Amino acid sequence: MLELDRLIGAQPAPWWEIALPPSEIPGMITEEERRYYEWIGGWYTGAGAAIELGPWFGRSTTHIVSGLQASPAFADRRLQVYDDFVWRSSWMDEYYGEADRPADGASFQAIFERFAAPIADRIDVHRGRIVSHGDNDHVAALAWSGGPIEIAYIDCGRTYEVNEAWYSLLESSFVENRTLLVMQDWQLWKEQPPQEYNQTKIFTDSKGPALDLIHELAHGAIGTFLYRGRAPSA
Ligand SMILES: C[S@@+](CC[C@H](N)C(=O)[O-])C[C@H]1O[C@@H](n2cnc3c(N)ncnc32)[C@H](O)[C@@H]1O
Repeated sequence: MLELDRLIGAQPAPWWEIALPPSEIPGMITEEERRYYEWIGGWYTGAGAAIELGPWFGRSTTHIVSGLQASPAFADRRLQVYDDFVWRSSWMDEYYGEADRPADGASFQAIFERFAAPIADRIDVHRGRIVSHGDNDHVAALAWSGGPIEIAYIDCGRTYEVNEAWYSLLESSFVENRTLLVMQDWQLWKEQPPQEYNQTKIFTDSKGPALDLIHELAHGAIGTFLYRGRAPSA
């Protein structure tokens, strides 16, 4: 992965040259983030699985899969997709006003699967809870096979707690100097006025040199980290 340049504040970044396929799927990501997903997947080598935490309706998922398909190493692979699929009216209603909008607390997995139908043969969908929010205790806890992970696309929250939960579950599957952690909301630690739940930098700082920031988007919140190896214990 050393051939992947460090691109922080680089203008124009190479993902702006990528053709962006149209998508009608409702989503919460920016145009640059969609382009980045289309671009970064082309670097996939097959050294481990590609996983996504937090697809919502699958707008990110379609661009992630499209990007991975640029790599021959993905030909016989599938993206492993995880979400608790619990509808949260307080912040999801505003993004979807159709008649089948789920009630607060109901599952939206069927709507995800409808939008993801064109890529159904390129994904494995898992219902899993990363941390308890009080509304998802009926969902089984996220489980991982233990196999290596090459790239993780993470969009499941900004608190230290939720990020520490997936990290502690998956770190033993990360490959030194190879695994990429694409953190969708990472740059929201810069949000003004600061919000107490924007704990992404506190989380990544807590991993010390294990997490090496290699990409930052200008028109989106993604920060991508290269896993450098387990932090030495104090
Ligand atoms: C911001 S949305 C993702 C947006 C999506 N990537 C897109 O392209 O529009 C966050 C997602 O994380 C999921 N999520 C939040 N907390 C979770 C948890 N503790 N366990 C599993 N999934 C969770 C939500 O259900 C939601 O689908």
